[in-house]
Amino acid sequence: SKILKIAVIPGDGIGPEVIDEGIKVLKKMAEGSDFCFEFTHFPWGCEYYAKNGKMMADDGIEQLKAFDAIYLGAVGYPGVPDHISLWDLLLKIRKEFDQYVNIRPITLLQGAPCPLQEAKRDNINMLFIRENSEGEYAGAGDWLFKGKPEEVVLQTGVFSRKGTERIIRYAFETARRLNKSLTSISKGNALNYSMVFWDQVFEEVSLDYPDVQTHSYLVDAASMFMIMQPERFEVVVTSNLFGDILTDLGAALAGGLGLAAGANINPERTYPSMFEPIHGSAPDIAGKGLANPLAAMWSASQMLDFFGYEQRGRMVLDAIERLLTEKETLTPDMGGTASTSEVGDRVVQLLADMLNQASIPDN
Ligand code: NAD
Ligand code: IPM
Ligand code: MN
Repeated sequence: SKILKIAVIPGDGIGPEVIDEGIKVLKKMAEGSDFCFEFTHFPWGCEYYAKNGKMMADDGIEQLKAFDAIYLGAVGYPGVPDHISLWDLLLKIRKEFDQYVNIRPITLLQGAPCPLQEAKRDNINMLFIRENSEGEYAGAGDWLFKGKPEEVVLQTGVFSRKGTERIIRYAFETARRLNKSLTSISKGNALNYSMVFWDQVFEEVSLDYPDVQTHSYLVDAASMFMIMQPERFEVVVTSNLFGDILTDLGAALAGGLGLAAGANINPERTYPSMFEPIHGSAPDIAGKGLANPLAAMWSASQMLDFFGYEQRGRMVLDAIERLLTEKETLTPDMGGTASTSEVGDRVVQLLADMLNQASIPDN
């Protein structure tokens, strides 16, 4: 059978706790299929930094190139400055592997808690496509006159023609394939270079997709509409920083950070893509078995989709929906009393039942 080689970077805090459960799910989903997973663990993160003075091995990027995908928990922990831990591991991988598409589904699953009393379940069903390689995260800037009264700090957003066009084109392709509208979220009124350019490229590319209905919102109004009228949004494309912020907002609409998944995709498949929950290392609950592993499992489902096993990916979401609907095995963030591994075991059990009943092809 086909071997899929997965580099596992559990990382910090609750990262290792949720990744363990995600791996249980992936192993289960390989049963009775024409593929199997081969997991290789890398102990990189803030503990590794404490021992070695670096976040990953010097040839870490080189090592990762040999894998079909990366499965990552979370990076960052008190004791190591966040801009070091994140830039030297998570952001480094996204950049080096040109994972310029960040796909973050904001879908209210059956049984998932939602803070909007009135919301109809079907109305919260968005697919965020976040630019993931440049923009506000270009890492460009300067720090002048440090500590002096005239101190000035610059953080430059970089929006290249290539980088902007490729993400917008990817979003149009996705909207066309799904037969959904596409919304661009920007801020051309205040950001008079970057977002004026973004809007212009969006208009230009839209000419190639006359069949795709488009909308364009300013980011401030968009955050209001996401709460008040979430049904306005189907496929959404936005810049790196706006996408970061709005997907935590979206997570809150769709069951919380414990249920929000993401995929960092290199569409050309020149390099491995990376799958990770969108939450962080949650130091406030780490090491106590309180972490919700469902986000990590949803990311695992995205990985199955990515490899072309979409029925199996869908099955993982179905199992999560059953778990949410039966409401018996949930972590405290969802009002339950179950531990991280109890949730994992229950999902695996539900999957076992489903695999026994279903007749799905082995590929
Ligand atoms: P966070 O996402 O770690 O936590 C925010 C809140 O949500 C906390 O109260 C936490 O307990 C809760 N939460 C998050 N995930 C949860 C889960 N699976 N189950 C239950 N509750 C959950 O964000 P933060 O506190 O701002 O950041 C903590 C650290 O993580 C920082 O170092 C930050 O830079 C880093 N971070 C890393 C990533 C990543 O690796 N992808 C993402 C975000 C933040
Ligand atoms: C995310 C995280 C990262 C980001 C941080 C940890 C650098 O918040 O994946 O959403 O901002 O992209
Ligand atoms: Mn974030």
